[in-house]
Amino acid sequence: MDLFEYQARDIFEKHGVPVLGGIVATTPDEARAGAEQLGGGTVVVKAQVKTGGRGKAGGVKLAHSPEEAAEKASEILGMDIKGHTVHRVMIAAGAKIAEEYYFSLLLDRANRSYLAMASVEGGMEIEQLAVERPEALAKVAVDPTVGIDAAKAAEIVEAAGFADDVREAVAQTIQKLWTVYQAEDATLVEVNPLVKTEDGQVVALDGKVSLDENAGFRHAEHAELEDKAAADPLEAKAKENDLNYVKLDGEVGIIGNGAGLVMSTLDVVAYAGEAHGGVKPANFLDIGGGASAAVMAAGLDVILNDPQVKSVFVNVFGGITACDEVANGIVQALGILGDEANKPLVVRLDGNNVEEGRRILAEANHPLVTLADTMDGGADAAAAAANAA
Ligand SMILES: Nc1ncnc2c1ncn2[C@@H]1O[C@H](COP(=O)(O)OP(=O)(O)OP(=O)(O)O)[C@@H](O)[C@H]1O
Ligand SMILES: [Mg+2]
Repeated sequence: MDLFEYQARDIFEKHGVPVLGGIVATTPDEARAGAEQLGGGTVVVKAQVKTGGRGKAGGVKLAHSPEEAAEKASEILGMDIKGHTVHRVMIAAGAKIAEEYYFSLLLDRANRSYLAMASVEGGMEIEQLAVERPEALAKVAVDPTVGIDAAKAAEIVEAAGFADDVREAVAQTIQKLWTVYQAEDATLVEVNPLVKTEDGQVVALDGKVSLDENAGFRHAEHAELEDKAAADPLEAKAKENDLNYVKLDGEVGIIGNGAGLVMSTLDVVAYAGEAHGGVKPANFLDIGGGASAAVMAAGLDVILNDPQVKSVFVNVFGGITACDEVANGIVQALGILGDEANKPLVVRLDGNNVEEGRRILAEANHPLVTLADTMDGGADAAAAAANAA
């Protein structure tokens, strides 16, 4: 789960990372009040959207008075930044910046470790720096069992070439950022820019944090950080039912068991769609290994409620849950859904007890259900049905 900058700021503050005051506002009036609360001086009005490059897009603006903060907020609120509508801004205390640095800590799956990256040339697009002058971006492996202690922080500071006057403050801040990473179960902590102010303080001016949802059970408080308003209603419904569902843009609803099978089903349907008016998969949905009738019903319910869906392809490989149970699940699911099941369903079963599964579906003889013998055949039939609808 990616956090908004203001949420990252709050988490930084909780763990002792130096930050400036920041207040969220959803209206120009709130922005004015926020600027007053911060002392009435210079503030920065910052769009809160979960995408980068806000500054370049005009989503970060300086304001010298509360009145001006309200004006800038009214310009930024409602703005579209790379497809994200700005619903709130953060009023941040203005810093007098002397230098801008970069620091991040992330999961390095390939090397089974964490990776710290730091540069004394922050602020700009770090991706660009990494490509154009990779030597200016220090990369230091961090052993997950040790983390960033004083020695590791010194190593990072040395590798990035921080000047003597900020070394100690940066090293301290990096250790605090490690605490954030570890204590909050983050997969990414990025500060761009980390700045030196004119009076020599080191401060995190912009934060990006991603939390590991697999560790959510350890952090009841993380549930509140979720942006429920932005969640796709179908994805929210799927989540309530513990379904692995991702909404996509096409017309053919997909249900399968096992992420690998579902991924390849998406490919096969996209390919088949080329011969049928260019229809595409409407979603990813993995109902998992031991899918019961109730899970099948919940999955079908989510997919059939997607107005973009014109047909559904159920592609199941019977394993632990055999095909006859899956077939019974489909029949029961259609019974549970009744009139809500109103789109053609192509079902391809294979694997354990496939004959019995097919027999059950044939016998049920549901008017919406067609049986397919192969995955390619099923994808073709589902794409054709979507195109014909
Ligand atoms: N509180 C602040 N006081 C003074 N200047 C600021 C403050 N916050 C940001 N800035 C300036 O604005 C620039 C852009 O801000 P920020 O890094 O938050 O946004 P961004 O980099 O455009 O967005 P993103 O990180 O999403 O790509 C910073 O590099 C810094 O120079
Ligand atoms: Mg930034």
